[in-house]
Amino acid sequence: MDNLFEKYWLEYDKYEVIKNEQGFILFKCYDNQTCYIRSIYVLPEHRKSKLGSKMADDVFNLCRIRGIKKVFGSVDVALKEAGPLMSFLKYGFELSHCDGQVLWIVKEV
Ligand SMILES: CC(C)(COP(=O)(O)OP(=O)(O)OC[C@H]1O[C@@H](n2cnc3c(N)ncnc32)[C@H](O)[C@@H]1OP(=O)(O)O)[C@@H](O)C(=O)NCCC(=O)NCCS
Repeated sequence: MDNLFEKYWLEYDKYEVIKNEQGFILFKCYDNQTCYIRSIYVLPEHRKSKLGSKMADDVFNLCRIRGIKKVFGSVDVALKEAGPLMSFLKYGFELSHCDGQVLWIVKEV
């Protein structure tokens, strides 16, 4: 992700980024001991090699240090591709609730 873009997310919305050459994860920790993963992306040619799981591990490890209890994610059910939801579920996220066409998922830290 472009460095300016990262600075924007941090300064205006307190979102943090963990990134490497193959992908990134964008997340935000809240005062109420929750974290929200807003976006996760792995380059198509590197998918299904556990890179997404590794980046999620990094967020969960940070959350443990910070005393965060739950991590949320969201998936647009209008997406034709079921892969992202499948990968979240395989990682251990469970369905939380549905808000319009957005499906919320959650995993205890
Ligand atoms: C979602 C995404 C980040 C997953 O990254 P990844 O590196 O491929 O995920 P992992 O390799 O860690 O996979 C974790 C598990 O999900 C499974 N999985 C991954 N992609 C899958 C797919 N398309 N269909 C079914 N299962 C899938 C893996 O097989 C693995 O299961 P296992 O533990 O039983 O082996 C990646 O597919 C992506 O960048 N997609 C486009 C962006 C996007 O849609 N992001 C999510 C919305 S913000």
